[in-house]
Amino acid sequence: MIKIFRLKNIISIKDFNREDIEYILEEASKLEDIAQSRKISEELKGKILGLMFFEPSTRTKMSFETAMKRLGGQEIGFENSGSSSVSKGESIADTAKMFEGYCDALVIRHELEGVSKFISDVVNVPVINAGDGAGQHPTQTLLDLYTIKKEIGKLDDLKIALIGDLKYGRTVHSLSNALTLFNNIKIYLVSPKELKMPQEILHDLNKTNVEYEEVENIEKVIDDVDVLYVTRIQKERFIDVDDYLKIKGAYIINKKMLEGKDLIVMHPLPRIDEIDTNVDNTKYNKYFAQAANAVPVRMAILKTLIKNNPK
Ligand code: NCD
Repeated sequence: MIKIFRLKNIISIKDFNREDIEYILEEASKLEDIAQSRKISEELKGKILGLMFFEPSTRTKMSFETAMKRLGGQEIGFENSGSSSVSKGESIADTAKMFEGYCDALVIRHELEGVSKFISDVVNVPVINAGDGAGQHPTQTLLDLYTIKKEIGKLDDLKIALIGDLKYGRTVHSLSNALTLFNNIKIYLVSPKELKMPQEILHDLNKTNVEYEEVENIEKVIDDVDVLYVTRIQKERFIDVDDYLKIKGAYIINKKMLEGKDLIVMHPLPRIDEIDTNVDNTKYNKYFAQAANAVPVRMAILKTLIKNNPK
């Protein structure tokens, strides 16, 4: 394993190589005991994390907060820009510079693609992208990979179906990019034709050895995959709500469809109706374990970035 993590900021999973990913996953498994046994360490004692969440978040924000607290640190921040001076007309750059004066790293979620990158260019503390519009969600991808490794035991030789809103879903964009770093991967892209994976991501896949296939029907792939990665239709990114209503409920995974299959079901959550609740009490359900894995993985990210980049 590499000894020093190269990246100062986590903006896009495309900045990672395989060793960078393995470094974070290995750190996360070392921290899992603290996360699971509800302990608090002192690794980031005296450090403060800044959370700038311009878009709603439950899991991502709470797991970053939990991760920081478990490492002995603290956090400050806001959850909607209405409660910050941005609502008075302050520029994002000024808000970020002000935060930089208070904390040791910044986590940013924003509805516009590229905002985290922009902020990383104006501040000196590490910046973590917690989702930028329909762009990237790299820390979600790290915890997705951690979950696959933990549940299936490998990140090579896998067949994965990405299902749902592949057009606007940032989690599937980042995950597709990350999978290109592993060997013998087949990705099934399962979506209605209106919500197909953007050309830009297909272009990235075309440059690699990853095999992929676009399909509209889950039944075609369900017997062949190790992972069903289900996503919600991203209602908030539709310009016309009627377009959303036409597609809503396009794919629903239920217990009956899964019977006898050798696979796991993942979902970045929140779930609307894509996975019937009758799957929750089956062995296929790994989505809540996946959400819990956010804590050790985000602990690994915070510990690595803050320790490597002292103020
Ligand atoms: C995802 C997101 O925000 O992109 N949620 C999350 O971070 N776990 C998925 C979603 O909102 O559908």
